[in-house]
Amino acid sequence: MSKEKILVTSALPYANGPIHLGHLSGAYLPADIFVRYKRLTNTDIIYVCGSDEHGVPITITAEKEKVTPQVIINRYHESNKAAFDKFGMSFDIYSRTSLPIHHKTAQEFFLSFYEQGILNEKKTFHFYDAKAGMFLPDRYVEGTCPKCGYEEARSDECEKCGSLYDPSELINPKSKVTGETPELKETSHWYFPLGKYQERLEKYVKESDRKYKWKDNVRQYCYGWFKDGLKDRAVTRDLDWGVKVPLDGADGKVLYVWFEAVLGYISATKELFREKGNEEEWRNYWQNSDTRYIAFIGKDNIVFHTIIFPAMLMAWNDANEDKFILPENVPANEFLNFEGKKFSKSRGWGIDVQEFLDLFPADILRYTLGANLPEGKDTDFYWKEFQSKNNSELADIFGNFVNRTFTFAHKHFDGKVPARGKLENIDEEMLELIESYPAKIGALIDSYKIKDSVFEMMSLARAANKYFNDSEPWKSVKTDKEKCGTTINICLQTIYTLAEVFSPVLPFTSDKLFKMLNAEKTSWQESGKSNLGDGHQINKAEILFTKIDDKVIEEQINKWSKPEEEEEKVSQITFDEFMKVDLKIAKVLQAEKIKKSNKLLKLQVDLGKEKRQVVAGIAQSYEPESLIGKKIVLVANLQPAKLFGVESQGMILAIEDESGKLSVLEVDTEVKVGTKVR
Ligand code: MF3
Ligand code: ZN
Repeated sequence: MSKEKILVTSALPYANGPIHLGHLSGAYLPADIFVRYKRLTNTDIIYVCGSDEHGVPITITAEKEKVTPQVIINRYHESNKAAFDKFGMSFDIYSRTSLPIHHKTAQEFFLSFYEQGILNEKKTFHFYDAKAGMFLPDRYVEGTCPKCGYEEARSDECEKCGSLYDPSELINPKSKVTGETPELKETSHWYFPLGKYQERLEKYVKESDRKYKWKDNVRQYCYGWFKDGLKDRAVTRDLDWGVKVPLDGADGKVLYVWFEAVLGYISATKELFREKGNEEEWRNYWQNSDTRYIAFIGKDNIVFHTIIFPAMLMAWNDANEDKFILPENVPANEFLNFEGKKFSKSRGWGIDVQEFLDLFPADILRYTLGANLPEGKDTDFYWKEFQSKNNSELADIFGNFVNRTFTFAHKHFDGKVPARGKLENIDEEMLELIESYPAKIGALIDSYKIKDSVFEMMSLARAANKYFNDSEPWKSVKTDKEKCGTTINICLQTIYTLAEVFSPVLPFTSDKLFKMLNAEKTSWQESGKSNLGDGHQINKAEILFTKIDDKVIEEQINKWSKPEEEEEKVSQITFDEFMKVDLKIAKVLQAEKIKKSNKLLKLQVDLGKEKRQVVAGIAQSYEPESLIGKKIVLVANLQPAKLFGVESQGMILAIEDESGKLSVLEVDTEVKVGTKVR
């Protein structure tokens, strides 16, 4: 049978800042575990990644530092590459999108679409910053909302009141790049007609999901997009930095960064085989219908990998002889938070990888993150948990078992694998157990349940420790040396199995173990067998894991204790002033969405003596029906206002958590509607 062929990619990180732990948990560690495992099975697999080096944020960083974008990308490309390396990422290539081979590849795609006549050219008005000499993307423009007066509104949308408006309506617009007032200037761009591919994309997602079991979050996300209907998307931008639009008269225009970045996977593969002197070999992966393509990403990248990139490949395939494969699966992860809060570069929240690995070995971090991957929901990194994973699992269970076995083997058997005598039940059970584990762990990794696979690895170490205890070799060594030999033989075979099945997560520790065992890795399938012959000489034990002191962890906790939320200066009011606020208990009678707003709900509430209509910005936290019947607190004497053309006669009280989720203040005591709150 010919070998299985697999192509794996991880999202190309922006070369605009350091990699942090959240990135690792999202798109890199799970892929690396998958790839390392697959390499030990009879698989022909390549793993491709690299820096994403275009896009506006890079130009803005460069502007701020008064250097060229090239300086920024060189800095972060090198440092991220080094950080990944130290973390044990086993990419076959870590390329970069500034390479000529990438520019050429991206331009070929654009030209193929252009020549097929599928791109639409449209003229629109955009904010232009004359001082910076650039068109401003939406998030670099700020102004006053024409509807509610909020002063930090975006160019076409207000976060505060949820209004959407035309950029020309924005009051007092300011460029976030220079602070100057931008002008609206006409420009033209090419649009990719995503809608034309909707039917084929739906079929692709549906069939891949059925065949390869896509993750729930990914499938639901795609169906959400399909339901809204796919629209044209601009694939060019007015910018100097990026892949030039390869048309006459398109000076100052580049390909939109997302359009070309996904193609970076292809150009990186070309680069990989060019370096190997086998230039056409990349086609054997990208253009071979027997190859399985798996794209690992974080959840913020889903649409680009399940909809936009596949549509681009379809469009290419429609017009060209050499046809690309599409992703078989896109196992996107949710996010990892840091000590209860979102990683944020701008707020300086969260440790980056280099910083971390200057303090602790990579394997502990790989294990901790692996055991807590955000596969189904967001998870958190906590220092305390990190410490306990190391101390009570890696050191106390795994390390301890290895150490006891090695000590025994050297002290009582001259460091040679003792022969086995007659097997008792407990011995046979242990041998069966180690034989069953590689397949069990492999099946979990194959179905992208990486977190569960890590749990199972430790389960085997746990079982091994128990076997050692229950066998009591410290007794049998005095009374029945042959029985003792059996135990130690089986423990050493188990260490071999552990060294192999842990290797995708703990590559550095695994290498150490094989050195200690004086043995080589075998195939994954064989690793549960007894691989060490009688009399095989083992080497001295090395320390695998050192316990982490409370002091060390406390230092980190203190360092990363949540920065005091800037205490808002709240001015004092008098009792009389407070009493002016008329807070009343009201009951929700009806609730419905407001058209065109994704933040607002229209509520009808009962105040006892009267009914009121209230508009509340809680649509993203509540399904309308779920509010009906709730008793809530209403500011009953607020001046009426109109939001999205809907009158609001009051305001309901709610609290917002860190993630932005709102909870309406609810009263669950037996209280009459209309009661005053004081
Ligand atoms: N640079 C993007 C990010 O970090 C990811 C790009 S993935 C790619 O979110 F496929 F476009 F390369
Ligand atoms: Zn507003």
